[in-house]
Amino acid sequence: MRHLLTALVLTTSLTAPALAQTRFDGVWLFDRADPNPGVTMLQVASAGGRITGAVTTEWYGPVTMQNARLEQGVLTFEVRNLNDREHPTRTWTVRRTAKGVQLDGQLWQSKIDTGGRRGTVRDAETRAFRFRTLPAWAPVEQVALAPTPPMGWSSWNKFAEKIDDKTIRAMADAMVSTGLRDAGYRYVNIDDGWQGTRGADGRIRPNAHFPDMKALADYVHSKGLKLGIYSSPGPRTCAGFEGSYGHVQQDAQTFAEWGVDYLKYDLCSGEYFYADADTVKRSYAEMGAALKATGRAFVYSLCEYGRFDVGAWGRQVGGHLWRTTGDITDDYATMARIGFDRNGKPEHAGPNGFNDPDMLEIGNGGMSEAEYTTHMTLWAMSAAPLLMGHDLRQTPAAMLRLLENREVIAVDQDTKGVQGKAVRKDGTLEIWSKPLADGAVAVALFNRGEAGARMEVRAADAGFATIVSARDLWRGAAVATDALGFDVPAHGALMLRIEGK
Ligand code: GLA
Repeated sequence: MRHLLTALVLTTSLTAPALAQTRFDGVWLFDRADPNPGVTMLQVASAGGRITGAVTTEWYGPVTMQNARLEQGVLTFEVRNLNDREHPTRTWTVRRTAKGVQLDGQLWQSKIDTGGRRGTVRDAETRAFRFRTLPAWAPVEQVALAPTPPMGWSSWNKFAEKIDDKTIRAMADAMVSTGLRDAGYRYVNIDDGWQGTRGADGRIRPNAHFPDMKALADYVHSKGLKLGIYSSPGPRTCAGFEGSYGHVQQDAQTFAEWGVDYLKYDLCSGEYFYADADTVKRSYAEMGAALKATGRAFVYSLCEYGRFDVGAWGRQVGGHLWRTTGDITDDYATMARIGFDRNGKPEHAGPNGFNDPDMLEIGNGGMSEAEYTTHMTLWAMSAAPLLMGHDLRQTPAAMLRLLENREVIAVDQDTKGVQGKAVRKDGTLEIWSKPLADGAVAVALFNRGEAGARMEVRAADAGFATIVSARDLWRGAAVATDALGFDVPAHGALMLRIEGK
């Protein structure tokens, strides 16, 4: 692409008759464009009445012009608009101005409104995006690091990119002092926002908020915990930080040297380069292989929002968990939509590979206690990774009870690794079951409705002819087996462990 454009610009400027060219032909440089998508250059060439060109961006590399034409003196063209199904393309325009050109358009959620000045073919070479090719498809042998769904904490839901070394250490401390570590939560995961720039050698450096990653990893390890980090196969992460594009092996090596134990690899700007099943798979396999080659054990979390049936191939790239949806937010509607209806295919889940309906919001305050009870119950019934997403220093007692209930955690962490599912639905009422390794069955009663409801459990819900014993896991008490009827509050849930025959 780069060579083609340079060649086109060269040929047209040298040989094409002046009349065939437009006032837009040539190279235009942008120095102050908004960081997302970070327009650096516009290249236009025309020959034989046909206009071609591209806009080079930091996030997505060259964005190719489609159907470029002049409309009343304005260069008008379409571009591929990432994965936006509603607007698969967007129309962009370029106008001539006294100083050069004005480029206007939109890509995904970013508005582009920026002025450019004339550049030379040499400038075009300097600013050309450096494409790299993905390795051919080769499966990566999975390391058995997640026999049960990973548990821990991640910085994103509460802190977004406002994170630093001090906060991460404080979370490790709180994980211990609250008893959450001893309840099973182990990973302290730094999500997006730790990255600085690359050195001359290409090595990624953390930003000023993280003075010493190795020291941070040592600290987290000293607490009996493990450290997670975050990157993207694209040039930019979702929050606009440096991604691993072109540095995959080097970054894996750096993470290993720092002593990192877990990587969340988030597609983000990579979706412009890897937009089909084959390339997405290969890009995740590339990092999977790079992690493996370091010789260090990494839990590998795939975050590509459930595209291309990731559950069917997540293990083949060395993945241990894979997101099934876009992002959770701290409200009942979103949590319920994800947890009930977009939590992946149960047949894909099992030891060392789990559907990931995203991190927990428990403790962030946007839902009622009944709704957070549903959140925890649903994630545990789904054998979902339990990655807390609130400020661990400020966990209200009621939320700590939800997060620390060992009998509920045991259902999530059951070694059979089965993802539970609905066995009976009646309007907004759902009964779910999850077979456990010791022959018992976890049964959950969900009331998705707006009013309290009476719900009854039958032996058949658990796959039994007769119920022998039942225990209410949230109350921590046995319940009489002859009358398994319960009042379940609006948006609430109940969770039982049932033995039967
Ligand atoms: C995406 C992911 C989130 C989070 C952010 C960080 O939106 O899905 O979980 O990692 O990126 O920018």
